[in-house]
Amino acid sequence: MFFLNFMFFNILLTVFVYANDISLQSDSVAVNDKFDDEYINKIDLNDENSGLYHTSKHVFYWLHTRDNPDGQLLNRSEPHLIESTTFNATNPIKVIVHGWLGDTKEKESLCMYNVKSYLKVGEYNVICVDWKQYSTDLSYAVARARAKHIARDIAKVLTRITYNMTIGVETLHLIGHSLGAHIVGFVGKNLVDKIPRITGLDPARPNYENNAPEDRLYITDAHFVDVMHTNTAKNGFRKPIGHIDFFPNGGKSQPNCGFGDKTTGSCSHIKAYHYFSHSIWAKEDYVARKCSSWNDFKAHTCDDNESTFMGEYVDPNKTENYYLETSIDEP
Ligand SMILES: *[C@@H]1O[C@H](CO)[C@@H](O)[C@H](O)[C@H]1NC(C)=O
Ligand SMILES: *[C@@H]1O[C@H](CO)[C@@H](O)[C@H](O)[C@H]1NC(C)=O
Ligand SMILES: *[C@@H]1O[C@H](CO)[C@@H](O)[C@H](O)[C@H]1NC(C)=O
Ligand SMILES: *[C@@H]1O[C@H](CO)[C@@H](O)[C@H](O)[C@H]1NC(C)=O
Ligand SMILES: *[C@@H]1O[C@H](CO)[C@@H](O)[C@H](O)[C@H]1NC(C)=O
Repeated sequence: MFFLNFMFFNILLTVFVYANDISLQSDSVAVNDKFDDEYINKIDLNDENSGLYHTSKHVFYWLHTRDNPDGQLLNRSEPHLIESTTFNATNPIKVIVHGWLGDTKEKESLCMYNVKSYLKVGEYNVICVDWKQYSTDLSYAVARARAKHIARDIAKVLTRITYNMTIGVETLHLIGHSLGAHIVGFVGKNLVDKIPRITGLDPARPNYENNAPEDRLYITDAHFVDVMHTNTAKNGFRKPIGHIDFFPNGGKSQPNCGFGDKTTGSCSHIKAYHYFSHSIWAKEDYVARKCSSWNDFKAHTCDDNESTFMGEYVDPNKTENYYLETSIDEP
């Protein structure tokens, strides 16, 4: 079973890289994106049925709480979406957004692992955003063009859930993997008030690394932006882009990933959310040290530098680059 999943990932990831090459030569995506941005700005954002792509019909929100760990679909016809759910405004809100390989195990495991971890340690409202109807489009370029629309939809939904950003905002934490990391960045840009925290898990590099701040996850998208880099060799952002950036095992690729990972990077890429999920219930397993490079870290130059936990319990006062070696990667 594991082997089959792994194979499936490899195949899809190959398409990912290929589609990216194609899109670099195509203007049509950028043109459509721009047109649609202008279009969207003119429409009534409260009208769920408007919008060129009817985004609201293709993006789903699943709420998981201890009283309903398997999740319930939020009903868009309800004024604040959380009526007749187990949402509890006294508990923190975690919003999880998957990347481009949506319909595969990635979407399911990113959500499942993190829901499981959060509900194991406490009372949370964990909302998994499911945009797989777009992300299964076997074109990374199309998924990318839709990223901003998906983000707008998420921003609208969060505005409703929080009663126009008045209730529960102080706990709002958005977590995105790969393309989802840029989506949560766009959500942050869209919301009227700055949210407390965004976590970017191996933010996607293809078509993003050289973008201007408004077209990718950026440090000003939340009061605190923490980023994990697990596959800078292939799929992940190389540059530090948060208040704090973690480079586990150097950041290029991850241990225990096998042969195919050299070509696809898929295993290293998803390790970011395995580590994150693990950090939720095992706070002290990932102690990272401030350091200027992986070589310095390995040479023990940074052994006495300041440290913090990578993942859920990062100290929001810490900044710049942190390195660590991981010995555990069970989610
Ligand atoms: C969604 O909410 C509306 C308005 O309260 C209600 O009429 C409808 O039955 C709900 N749908 C589901 C599937 O619960
Ligand atoms: C909401 O969660 C808190 C614990 O965080 C609990 O004390 C309270 O009873 C819950 N409220 C409801 C309505 O379940
Ligand atoms: C939120 O803002 C909208 C638009 O300004 C308004 O119609 C709605 O009543 C507000 N809702 C709450 C709960 O304040
Ligand atoms: C880490 O510590 C070393 C040795 O004390 C020092 O040279 C280096 O500047 C420190 N690096 C950071 C990023 O703090
Ligand atoms: C971060 O700094 C603030 C203000 O200096 C302080 O109140 C807070 O306790 C610090 N947080 C941690 C986790 O050290």
